[in-house]
Amino acid sequence: NDDQFKKVVSHAREYGYIFASSEIYDGLSAVYDYAQNGVELKKNIREYWWRSMVHMHQNIVGLDSAILMHPTTWKASGHVDAFSDPLIDNKDSKKRYRADVLIEDYAEKLNQKAQKEIEKAKKRFGDKFDEEEFVSTNPRVIRYLEEQRTVLERMANSLEKEDLADVKALIEELGIADPDTGSKNWTEVRQFNLMFGTKLGASAEHAMDLYLRPETAQGIFVNFLNVQKSGRMKIPFGIAQTGKAFRNEIVARQFIFRMREFEQMEMQFFVRPGEELKWYEYWKEMRLKWHLSLGMGEENYRFHDHDKLAHYANAAADIEFNFPFGFKELEGIHSRTDFDLKAHEKFSGKKLQFFDPELNESYVPYVVETSIGLDRMFLAVLSNSLQDETLEDGSTRTVLKIPAILAPVKAAVLPLIKRDGLPEVAQQIIEDLQWDHNVIYDEKDAVGRRYRRQDAAGTPFCITVDHQTLEDGTVTIRHRDTMEQERISKDEVSNKIKEAISY
Ligand code: GAP
Repeated sequence: NDDQFKKVVSHAREYGYIFASSEIYDGLSAVYDYAQNGVELKKNIREYWWRSMVHMHQNIVGLDSAILMHPTTWKASGHVDAFSDPLIDNKDSKKRYRADVLIEDYAEKLNQKAQKEIEKAKKRFGDKFDEEEFVSTNPRVIRYLEEQRTVLERMANSLEKEDLADVKALIEELGIADPDTGSKNWTEVRQFNLMFGTKLGASAEHAMDLYLRPETAQGIFVNFLNVQKSGRMKIPFGIAQTGKAFRNEIVARQFIFRMREFEQMEMQFFVRPGEELKWYEYWKEMRLKWHLSLGMGEENYRFHDHDKLAHYANAAADIEFNFPFGFKELEGIHSRTDFDLKAHEKFSGKKLQFFDPELNESYVPYVVETSIGLDRMFLAVLSNSLQDETLEDGSTRTVLKIPAILAPVKAAVLPLIKRDGLPEVAQQIIEDLQWDHNVIYDEKDAVGRRYRRQDAAGTPFCITVDHQTLEDGTVTIRHRDTMEQERISKDEVSNKIKEAISY
């Protein structure tokens, strides 16, 4: 749904959510700035995650480790050797692409063709349509889906075997062309490491080569024993952190879905060896519950269990979200075994073991990880919330139905007119509310237009001060989603907001 996606991007800019980085210099590709409303929404998502992860679990604690880490960290984690994308250049256009993305796009088109056939048949057969039966018997649909599967399988196999020549051969066999120019004149495929390098130290000879962290997880692993000992933590326990990560993504597309500088919210849960799959199932379920608690529609989430596992994992799944460009990964839950801690033991020469008093033995714990991109969650919230509604009187409104608990501004306080002492009362209400809630004052334009502006900005409540307020101390509170208005005492406003945003 390209149109919806374009709307989201332009709405984000117009209403102060997201700007391109260094826009006056024409921006920096795949880097974005969060504006006045965006920074609040992002903070609220982070806070919602943090509270439910750290404050609601007595056995999970937080951490804020540095972005810069000792370079050996990335040797141990495998990022120096294996954190790369297969690239291919087009000799005519001189454009660079991720070979796997070109192939995935090709496969996705096959899927779309199959879906189109299904939609057509649905229309034709109406109530009598049995989708399962149709998918398993219609020759065209079978052919599209089978080709999709074989293409993706062959790509995954070749990448796993690092057979880059076969990845190129596949691109040629499928006749994949440069999406911009149509040219099929490709170079070889080669691996390109995604980590950003930087230097520590002033003099060229003594400078140390560092990387900006490509994930926050390693900061947790290297601190595992520090936290366990200083917090007297007993297994099972978790360490959570949020923070920036950096990846030199080659194909940076889809707005803030894939960025070069982004934020992760990760939690590593340390468990007894042998119990990891039980905890993996537990965290899969817990994380889905967290998403569903925001009320953005159960139908917009699905699990994607990985058949092919990374070298460090013995089980992995994504929670996918229905973005305007289809279902895509929002969060990953991985059973990472003892791979990371063992690797850090090996490279550092330090033991990273837990003495389990119940078993009376020491071991390297197994790890279950939950990892979600904060920016990606932001995009999920924003794209799900933006709606155009036709009202009973035939007029339309644009409304951003952000869950109240995440909304940047909780209430706008509006004097009906700019005189008769109404602005002063409104300002007083702002003063009463502003320590507990992010609220704003707005007196410009007719009140109806102000309501619409707040609807589009995502503010769940408008509090209007009128002449009756001067007499009996009541205000109207207008609800963004239903547009209903109630008359309540101005002293009740704070509690009303609290109710709407309670955890
Ligand atoms: N520690 C595990 C890890 O980093 P990942 O699947 O590479 O796993 C986890 O990343 C999450 O981080 C993803 O599910 C996604 O939400 C987010 N993410 C990854 N790369 C991103 C990027 N370039 N831009 C925005 N978010 C990204």
